[in-house]
Amino acid sequence: MKTPIVDFLRKYDNEDILRLHMPGHKGLIEIPTGYDITEISGADFLFSPGGIIKESEKNASALYETAMTLYSTEGSSLCIKTMIAMLKKIGVNKILSPRNSHISFVNACALLETEVCWLYPKSEVSDISSGEYTAEDIDEALLKTGCKAVYITSPDYLGNILDIKAISKVCKANGAYLIVDNAHGAYLKFLKRDTHPITLGADMCCDSAHKTLPVLTGGAYLHISKNADKRFLNISKSVMSVFATTSPSYLIMASLDMANKFLSEKENIFSAEERFIEFKKEISLLGFYDISKEPFKITIDTYLSSITSEVLVKSLEENKISVEYSDRSAVVLMLSAYNTEADLLRLKNAFCYAAKLKCGLSVEKMVFKLMPAQVKMSITEAFFSDDEEIPTEFSVGRICSATKVICPPCIPIVVSGEVFDKNSVKILKRYGISTVNVVK
Ligand SMILES: Cc1ncc(COP(=O)(O)O)c(C=O)c1O
Repeated sequence: MKTPIVDFLRKYDNEDILRLHMPGHKGLIEIPTGYDITEISGADFLFSPGGIIKESEKNASALYETAMTLYSTEGSSLCIKTMIAMLKKIGVNKILSPRNSHISFVNACALLETEVCWLYPKSEVSDISSGEYTAEDIDEALLKTGCKAVYITSPDYLGNILDIKAISKVCKANGAYLIVDNAHGAYLKFLKRDTHPITLGADMCCDSAHKTLPVLTGGAYLHISKNADKRFLNISKSVMSVFATTSPSYLIMASLDMANKFLSEKENIFSAEERFIEFKKEISLLGFYDISKEPFKITIDTYLSSITSEVLVKSLEENKISVEYSDRSAVVLMLSAYNTEADLLRLKNAFCYAAKLKCGLSVEKMVFKLMPAQVKMSITEAFFSDDEEIPTEFSVGRICSATKVICPPCIPIVVSGEVFDKNSVKILKRYGISTVNVVK
């Protein structure tokens, strides 16, 4: 019998590739499979911890200065379902959210019958992940919709960061909870200027520790603020257990535990931040336009940099550098404190090489406008309807059943219950989504 997955991984691991994609450990942490146990005597229980897991979660909570930090071994996706379910349990089942939310949020709302009032970006965007949403936009929408919770994504997949401090003030003034998808920003707490969502006023947030910290894929935190509604503290573990596996991975928990030690030595993140800020200046001198506001992410705008994604990605690949994501308008590279000076030198050489290839390249700017869709059914009703798969070009006027996304960035273009129109079909096609699921 062939072992296609193992064969691929062995080859990839042996090729000395510079990994500028998640996970943040970059293939450099070692956790023996002997640590892969289950909830045996003495090993504690993730959803009713009283021993070693409790102690480790408390360490994480102290580092992030939260009232409570819960470990997830199933990514931010599990934390997001948990946060939406906790809101529901205290009576909040209508949420205001910018349109660039990850599919795990839509899935949570579908499962929990939570209504979403979508906020659309005012101007044109070059990517479905992006969009500028201000505190004023949120204030206005809260007044209009009467929502008692706001769910925002910051940083987003391309590294844009929202003004969480201002948004949190607006939420408080309107009596609304603020929940942040901080999947990409677990490290923000440890920068020279702490810009973690909990510090800036969020009630709860999720961090995919695995994306930017030395943590195995799946390792994530659900943080609850010291200022949040105390009911969240009592219900969080039992709510999370409803959606989670009953066999949480001790390998992942061990990596979260090790990350606490790593994060307690703050210089690890400080020195990486300094290195990356300097590096970003160097590539900008080479004519590469980085639109990421995050220090640990580089997002090259291909239009502003006059280079096609294909040429840039090829140049990087020829230098054995593997990227996180690329599409027509952007190439995303994810750094972590595990990236060394030598890695940055290698990356700089690849950018120098790419700079020579871009001479004379004129790149077409791709922008589109996301427009509010007509809603004919609730997310839940459409999600559980009998459906059929049809070519995207025939979907105008039909109701979306299952939300289709391309992953990454896993951001929905049309959500369950919404009607496809000419504009959304155009955007779906731009992303190469050739079939969609519609209600029969
Ligand atoms: C913005 C955002 N939120 C949530 C998630 C889900 O995170 P996880 O993979 O840890 O479940 C992702 C995954 O890439 C993401 O990009």
